[in-house]
Amino acid sequence: MTGTTTQSTGAEQLRSRIAAELARTRARTALLTEAVDEADLVRQHSPLMSPLVWDLAHVGNQEELWLVRDVGGREPVRRDIDDLYDAFKQPRRDRPTLPLLPPQEARAYLLTVRDKVLDLLDRVAFTERPLVADGFAFGMIVQHEQQHDETMLATHQLRAGPAVLHAPPPPEPRVRVDAEVLVPAGEFTMGTDTDPWALDNERPAHRVLLPAYVIDAAPVTNGRYREFIADGGYDDPRWWSPDGWRHRREAELVAPMHWRRDGDGWACRRFGRWAPVRDDEPVVHVCFHEAQAYAAWAGKRLPTEAEWEKAARWDPATGRSRRYPWGDDDPTAEHANLGQRHLWPAPVGAYPAGASPLGVHQLIGDVWEWTSTPFRGHPGFTAFPYREYSEVFFGDEHRVLRGGSFGTDRAACRGTFRNWDFPIRRQIFSGFRCARDARPEEAQS
Ligand code: AVJ
Ligand code: FE
Repeated sequence: MTGTTTQSTGAEQLRSRIAAELARTRARTALLTEAVDEADLVRQHSPLMSPLVWDLAHVGNQEELWLVRDVGGREPVRRDIDDLYDAFKQPRRDRPTLPLLPPQEARAYLLTVRDKVLDLLDRVAFTERPLVADGFAFGMIVQHEQQHDETMLATHQLRAGPAVLHAPPPPEPRVRVDAEVLVPAGEFTMGTDTDPWALDNERPAHRVLLPAYVIDAAPVTNGRYREFIADGGYDDPRWWSPDGWRHRREAELVAPMHWRRDGDGWACRRFGRWAPVRDDEPVVHVCFHEAQAYAAWAGKRLPTEAEWEKAARWDPATGRSRRYPWGDDDPTAEHANLGQRHLWPAPVGAYPAGASPLGVHQLIGDVWEWTSTPFRGHPGFTAFPYREYSEVFFGDEHRVLRGGSFGTDRAACRGTFRNWDFPIRRQIFSGFRCARDARPEEAQS
């Protein structure tokens, strides 16, 4: 086989993979935006969120900007709407008052853009140009749409009214999971140079030396979190940082978002349905400050981002960092609770096939996990292809979250993937696990 043949076969495979990912992603967008009527699409369900119809057209506009205009070099479809759908020009709270495309026009716009993209996908040469090498721009646009799909799912969770989304419950526990796992001292590789669709903030790969530490083998559960509440954790400033305590008082936090008292227990609302809080499921809808306070109460702390990534990727047998806890293969339904296949986190022990070599469970899927680390570039970071994806958010205001939630698609989730948000946010599908320094006698063993 000649080099040229290999290359063109590779290009054809890449084309069909991209087409499949674009179609799979658009089906999810359609589901989320066809589940409610027009009035619900244009309404703002929470000041934290855009009207669903803004996300819808914004997804199409990003696809137009990067694929139709930049990669394809084609004429604009709708240059007149660029400003409306620029997240930096339009704060979320103002988006409902903008002259947005009505739902049917937004859908037609997405179809027009997608037709052009499929046409140019047939002809594009995957040259060395970084934007198109390995189909990067297409992968970036798939991930962008999936991220907005997760945002739209969070909007559905905030929406009042009866349930419109349906999915089977997550699997039951299959194994018992230890409380904690020791991660031995040593270097590991954090970040990546080789994952073709990794975003700028995941690069470059670099070595990080960590002392021995202990990390929870599973995310903190509702049952544990209820003990913190019952012990008066929300009323004791000892557990909270000064910022956290101020926020806890101002926002009058008493329990995770979407919980209410139910007899002597708790119930939680999930996409329009109330259900008893189940003790063995990871807690979700807590902010960074609540996570940090729980950890202090438990005599622990939040993991740093590097500790999370080493627990998720480091293989003690080879010293290599894997793409996922279970290896380099893409996630399946056996590995992790991802992609809105279920509408809430799975109980601890439900995904033994997804555990890391050290025995850390449910790192990928279920809940985004708060880390103690502010969002910054890895050493040697360069913004690509635009500063507004990551770089403008670097600094102390945002904390990193890792691992993805039940609402994260597999295309937008891997061992290196980084999410970030303000420490007060909890409308996202956020939970956490705890860590602690290893005691000297543990570090020896
Ligand atoms: C990475 C989830 C924080 O939603 O603000 C979407 C992703 N960036 N459009 C966000 C994103 C541009 C981003 N997060
Ligand atoms: Fe966006």
